[in-house]
Amino acid sequence: MIELFSVTKRYPGGQVGLDEVTLKIEAGQMVFLTGPSGAGKSTFLKLIYCEEVPSSGSILVNGRNVSSLPRRKVPYLRRTIGVVFQSFRLIPRKTVFENICYLPRILGLSGQEQRQLAYETLRRVGLAHRMKAFPLQLSGGEQQRVAIARALMNQPEILLADEPTGNLDPELSEEILRLFLEINGQGTTVIFATHDRDLIQRVGRRVLTLEGGQLASDKVLPGKLVDTSDDDSEKSAGVE
Ligand SMILES: Nc1ncnc2c1ncn2[C@@H]1O[C@H](COP(=O)(O)OP(=O)(O)OP(=O)(O)O)[C@@H](O)[C@H]1O
Ligand SMILES: [Mg+2]
Repeated sequence: MIELFSVTKRYPGGQVGLDEVTLKIEAGQMVFLTGPSGAGKSTFLKLIYCEEVPSSGSILVNGRNVSSLPRRKVPYLRRTIGVVFQSFRLIPRKTVFENICYLPRILGLSGQEQRQLAYETLRRVGLAHRMKAFPLQLSGGEQQRVAIARALMNQPEILLADEPTGNLDPELSEEILRLFLEINGQGTTVIFATHDRDLIQRVGRRVLTLEGGQLASDKVLPGKLVDTSDDDSEKSAGVE
């Protein structure tokens, strides 16, 4: 569970990233975070994975106050949180396998264990057959799947995505969105930040809208998109 209590983030230059935001996201929820450019979406996510610290207020992740977490404890928190970005952030000279096994914790596993975990994780994102490919040999949608696999390697309880479809065309965006719905259907809490209202409107989920750092609305939208790939994810994508 993620809880924010009157969270404000003011950057050193005086810009307001987030302004008195209070809300709660239950474990296992899928939530969209939207709003215009500069509304505070990335700030919201950065505060949760401790890339930034709030100026005031507090943030609890699974009951633990992360707003005052000492820097040395941040890596432990990050083991429970996966993050995916618009720009994939893959290392071009490393294979898919090497890219997703790059986390220090994963590197502590034996070679056999790493291969097993990588294979299973890539299978979840539909890319088990591309383990030895290099990022530039993959399409944009496939590269994003690798980035999602990398975020899943730690088996995180929470998956944060900052404009994960920002570099993809509408068809690929929907495919990636379906993948997030599937991952959520398997129990992971997902926060998906996007300014793409069209994409959101196809899914019946909770939508948090930020404007000028404030929470302008928090509602559950009815939507039509259902995952037809299997019964479980169809249920998870239905209207709540
Ligand atoms: N590192 C920073 N230093 C100073 N100001 C910042 C910093 N990061 C963000 N801001 C400011 O905080 C506000 C919120 O920015 P944020 O990046 O969270 O918005 P966003 O909703 O993610 O926008 P976008 O859709 O363009 O990604 C903006 O006014 C921005 O200029
Ligand atoms: Mg942003």
